[in-house]
Amino acid sequence: MNTLSGIKSRIPLGLYRLLKAKILKGKFPHAIQFNITFKCNQRCMYCGIYKDTRQEMTTEQIFRMIDEFVELGTARISFTGGEPLLRKDFSLIAGYARKQGLSVSLATNGSLVGKCTDALENINSVNMTLDGIEAVHDQQRGKGNFKIVMDAFELIRGKGIPVYFVSVITKNNCMRINELLELARSLDVKLIVQPVFYSEQSHASNLEGYMDAKYDDKIMMETLGQLIKLKEQGDSTLILSKRYYRNVKESIRQGKKMVCSHGGNLFCTISPDGRVAPCNLLVRDSRWLNGNEIGFRKAFINMPEIKCEGCLSSFMDIDDMYSFKIDVAWNYYKQYLKLYT
Ligand SMILES: C[S@@+](CC[C@H](N)C(=O)[O-])C[C@H]1O[C@@H](n2cnc3c(N)ncnc32)[C@H](O)[C@@H]1O
Repeated sequence: MNTLSGIKSRIPLGLYRLLKAKILKGKFPHAIQFNITFKCNQRCMYCGIYKDTRQEMTTEQIFRMIDEFVELGTARISFTGGEPLLRKDFSLIAGYARKQGLSVSLATNGSLVGKCTDALENINSVNMTLDGIEAVHDQQRGKGNFKIVMDAFELIRGKGIPVYFVSVITKNNCMRINELLELARSLDVKLIVQPVFYSEQSHASNLEGYMDAKYDDKIMMETLGQLIKLKEQGDSTLILSKRYYRNVKESIRQGKKMVCSHGGNLFCTISPDGRVAPCNLLVRDSRWLNGNEIGFRKAFINMPEIKCEGCLSSFMDIDDMYSFKIDVAWNYYKQYLKLYT
């Protein structure tokens, strides 16, 4: 697989339209995140997304959606869920997106990677969730899951596909961040580390599970301080920027969540039934317009104003990048783009 050529193909057009949209303060879906299904074969303690059983678009409808976004100049599609690999047609869809020149990324729990190796041929990068060493990970994400992630990791890396982990920080692993970092370093893999959060609008509206996972603010502040210090020392394992961790710390201190500026303007999220939302955390709201019914351009351009409660998500780092914050962009280049080279 030629990863670089796949990524580069739409970069110039995407960048041009991105700059134009920034200068003219217009809307342009530079990157889309697609919740291809809300179905999930795992029951993670902090996530309730699997409870949403709405209808999903057909293969043909998804192809049309991809065509429409390609027409708009979109450069990147990230498949998430639920568990994307539960879709029997995933390989076909990823292949289609790639053929249209999109950079394709996949978020997976790893459980079906062994059965879907053909799908990997069309993926530019994979992120898997790893919440800690075996005891911690399995406590949060189900017994036996750590081994599943490790096996999938070996398989994906063996194919030469860039892969990184996403770690959700809860009361279980808040004080065990060193173990997580040591594990990542021993595997030579990078990490996105973000605190667990809750929002009724969010994909993870599972209040009971969240309450079981919620950290002590004081301990989380110490953990965030540790992450900031590591970034200051030039740590190369943590993908997110120092600014992100500082903002999360400030946000917890003030007791208010962060709200982004570019969700719905320069990036967006699509639900399994085709609704176009500003971001992944708001995607379950049924008030978003359905692109499958009225066209995705129209659904994106005419996105309704729905108040966001804010979040602590790693999306905030992407948002800062779209704000052209130099430190964040430089960090992104060093920690993320270099995964591809
Ligand atoms: C919903 S999953 C979908 C992709 C895939 N099934 C997986 O497990 O990675 C996407 C990411 O959201 C994270 N997530 C789910 N609920 C969360 C919450 N309440 N707070 C923070 N992250 C959460 C998961 O741990 C995972 O890293």
